Amino acid sequence: MEKYYVSYNKIHSIMKDLSQQIIESGFEPDYIVAIGTGGFIPARMLKTFINRPILTVGIAYYDLNDNIMDEPNIIQWIDDPDKKLKGKKILLVDEVDDSRATIGFCLERLLTHKPLEIAVTVVHNKEKEKRGSIPPEIQKYFAGETMEDQWICYPWDADEILEHENNC
Ligand code: G4P
Ligand code: MG
Repeated sequence: MEKYYVSYNKIHSIMKDLSQQIIESGFEPDYIVAIGTGGFIPARMLKTFINRPILTVGIAYYDLNDNIMDEPNIIQWIDDPDKKLKGKKILLVDEVDDSRATIGFCLERLLTHKPLEIAVTVVHNKEKEKRGSIPPEIQKYFAGETMEDQWICYPWDADEILEHENNC
C-alpha cells in the first residue's frame, strides 16, 4: 500500500485549522475525549487552541500480534462516566477514521452516558467503505484531511524521527 508520511508540524497545523472550524461551528466542548493511543498527541495539540480538560479512553480492535478481534475491547474508560458526561458537550479526537469500527464503537458507548452533544474530529479520514458507522445523533464531524486509502505513517511511530521527517 502507498505510504503517506506526516510530520508533527503538519499535524500541529491541521489541529489549529480544525480548532478554528470547531469554534466557527459554535461548538464549545466541556471535555476533549482522546481515543488512545493515536488520538493522544493530536488531542494535546488541539488543547492549545481549545483549552478544555482531556479525558482519555483506550479501545483495542487488534491484539498484540496485530490480529483483528471479534469486537473492539475497552482497555481504559472514563471514571464515573455518568457523572462526568451527562449533559456535557464532548469533542472526541482520534488520529484516523479508517474502518470507523473503533470510532463507531466509542461513540455508541459515550452516548449511553447521555451527553448533551458529541462532535468528532480526526486528523485524517480515509475515503473507503467503512465497517463501522457514526450514530445519527452525531451531527458534527471535522476531518483535517480527507484522502484515498493509503497507509499513513505518523511521527510517533517512527524509529528514526529525522529519517521520518525527510520522507514528509
Ligand atoms: P477507526 O474506527 O478509527 O477507523 O479505527 P480502526 O478500528 O479502523 O483502526 C484500527 C487501528 O488501525 C487503529 O489503531 C488506527 O489508528 C490504526 N490505523 C488505521 N489506519 C492507519 C494508518 O493509515 N496509519 C496508522 N499508523 N495507523 C492506522 P489502534 O489499534 O486503535 O491503536 P493505536 O495505534 O491508536 O494505539
Ligand atoms: Mg487509533
